[in-house]
This record gives sequence, C-alpha cells and structure tokens, in this order.
Amino acid sequence: MRIILGVAGGIAAYKAALVLRLLTEAGHDVRVIPTHASLEFIGRATWEALSGQPAPSDIFEDVPHVPHVALGKGADLVVVAPATADLISRAATGRADDLLTATLLTARCPVLLAPAMHTEMWEHPATRSNVATLRSRGVHVLEPASGRLTGADTGRGRLPEPEDIVAAALALVGDPDAPQDLAGQHVVISAGGTREPLDPVRFLGNRSSGRQGFALAETALARGARVTLVAANVTLPPPARADLVAVETTAELRDAVRAAAKDADVVVMAAAVADFRPATTAETKIKKRADGSAPVLELVETPDILAELAAQRLRAGQLLVGFAAETGDCDASVLEHGRAKARRKGADLLVVNAVGTGRGFGTADNAVTILDVHGEAVANAAGSKASVAHAVWDAVANLR
Ligand code: CTP
Repeated sequence: MRIILGVAGGIAAYKAALVLRLLTEAGHDVRVIPTHASLEFIGRATWEALSGQPAPSDIFEDVPHVPHVALGKGADLVVVAPATADLISRAATGRADDLLTATLLTARCPVLLAPAMHTEMWEHPATRSNVATLRSRGVHVLEPASGRLTGADTGRGRLPEPEDIVAAALALVGDPDAPQDLAGQHVVISAGGTREPLDPVRFLGNRSSGRQGFALAETALARGARVTLVAANVTLPPPARADLVAVETTAELRDAVRAAAKDADVVVMAAAVADFRPATTAETKIKKRADGSAPVLELVETPDILAELAAQRLRAGQLLVGFAAETGDCDASVLEHGRAKARRKGADLLVVNAVGTGRGFGTADNAVTILDVHGEAVANAAGSKASVAHAVWDAVANLR
C-alpha cells in the first residue's frame, strides 16, 4: 500500500519514527512529509533514511513531478502523527501552504490524524470546532491519550501509542492481503474490562485495556466480517468500521452481547468480565467512619455470559470463543487451568494467555495457546495482538 506519513511540529514527532518503522515492516511503501516546524524536532535525514525515499516539505521542491498533487492523489492512506493544533487548524480551513496541507487537500483516500498537543490547546473551542469540521468531512481524528506531556505536566493531549495509531490507520483501509474467510459473517466481540460500582465515585474493576479485543475487531473487519464490538471502559480509538456498543457493567455487557449474538455467526468474549459485584451500590459516596472501622463489602457472583451462551446457543451453528487470562499457581500451571476451564465453559475455542507483571494486560504483544472444547491445544501464537487475533480467526476458520 502507498502510505503518506505527515509529521507536524510537536515534541511527539520523534514517535512518528516508530509509526514509520511499523508501517514499513508491515511491507508498506511509506513517503514522509514533515512540516518545516517538525524539522526543529526531527531532521529530514531521519525520515529519508528510515523510509528510503525523499522527504520533502515544500511545494516548490521537485516541481516537474507536481508533488503537491501527485502524492495525495496516488496515496492509499494518509496518516498524520503528530497532528498539532496548527496542522488541524490548517487542514480544517483547507489551507495549502506547505506540501503536507496541499497533500491533505488532494488526497481522496482515508485520512487519519493522530493529535498531540497541550491539554489547553486540545480543549480550546477553536480546536474542538476544527476537529468537528474535519470529522464531519470524513477525516478520522483519533482521541489523544492522557499522560505525561512535554514537560512535567500531564493531561489529555498525548500522542496515542504508535502501535495504536498504526492499527487504527490500517483498519481504515483493510488489509488487501488478508483472506476474506469471514466475508458475509457477523462477528460479535466483547473487549475491555467491566466495572461494578460501589458508590457514585468508586468501582471494582480490572486492568484490561481492550487492545486484544480491538485487534480481533480490526482483523475480523480486514477478513471481511461485519463486526459488533461491545467495549467495556476502553479508551483506545475504536476501529472505524465496527458497530460500537459502549458498556460499563457486567449486566450491561451481558445485555449488549446477547442482543447482538442473536444473529451472530461467531461470538468472541475477549472482555475481562468481573466475576463478582458488590451486593448493593450506595447511592451516595461511602464516607469514612467516625470510629475508624472499615466497611465490609458483600459480593455476589455475576452471570457467566460465555457459559450461558454455550449452554443455550442463541443461533444454530454459532461458534463461541472465550479468553482465559491465567497466572498459574501452586495447584496447576497456566495451561492446566486453561484445560479445565475449556471443558467447564463449553466454548468451541478457549484462548489461554499467561498474565502477570508486564505480560498480557495493556502490553502490545501477547502469547497464547488456543484450546478446543476438550482442552486439546489446536494452535499456539505469539507476537503482536494483531497476529494473535489472526491466529484466532484461523482456528475459527478450521472449525467451519
Ligand atoms: N466470562 C464471562 N462472564 C463472566 C466471567 C467470564 O463471559 N462472568 C468469560 C470471559 O469473557 C472469558 C472467559 O469467560 O472469555 C474466561 O474468563 P475468566 O475470568 O478467565 O474465567 P472465570 O470463569 O471467571 O474463571 P476464574 O476467574 O475462576 O479463573
């Protein structure tokens, strides 16, 4: 695929080098267009060396090839990372005062902007209105992440992680090399982690980021499926072509999954579902007690959504895939726990991964064993969450 990577002038410009690396390693032909301001942060030589292509900024460079028209018209995808407040403003008003904005005007392919700026700039009504204008025209503008900004300050406005930018960008165009074995199928995927409220400000939750579930959605879309993505408390940019249902609690997740599963060919429960919820939810904030005693929480079990779907299939021939994050303990290894769970749950496939410090939750990579309903291993996969997701769809295809 021919991809244009625009780089605007913000401190996060250095992270665009990783975006470029990920795109070229995936086999794409990437041309970088840095703005003049971005060259204050990362020099042109970096872009030319990493992409193996010239990285012009000006309309008046290489004039015989009319690059300000040719680059945009010939691209399959344009990604701008970081997209600063100034770049967003120029794009929204249709300026063409450098090669990047001219390219944005001539591009007829999907365009994704990954913003990075200070919180105040992101929240300013001018930027809000520019982002709304761009979105109304079909430009995909990611939500910035929260976290450390340029200096000691933290807040909303951080560039989303390079892996997330690349995944969201490639999901816009689909992967022309992906097998179309899910074409015509409706796939329901739950992702993220449920939260069970204790009172109006507190909840019991878990560390699931939703990355694996979102990767499943993106790869299913690439393989031709129609995707309903039931997302519990996920802050990642959602795949543009999925039907997104946002939920918070296990009860909401159950309702949304069961409603969508009625006409689903495959249901994948990648969400980390709370097994227990507080027996009651306080209507007002639970306060410290005068006598210093701590409250005792009573918990009740939540319904097992996957086991329910397996016990009574909502549609004949529907395939069910579960995930099991295991740590292993003194009683059994990760895989032994997985085998027992596969038999207990009754799902057609159970994807078992080892979690713990630095593994599984919130990380970009994953390593899994896929078990059948008898607990027998049918595949192993390791690598990016996208490659694990493809291995899951391969295992699904083998069951058909
Ligand atoms: N799951 C579910 N409903 C629940 C709990 C889990 O549908 N109330 C699903 C998860 O989405 C996952 C699979 O069941 O696909 C396994 O989840 P896990 O938490 O590993 O299993 P549990 O049955 O909760 O077992 P345990 O916590 O005892 O290991």
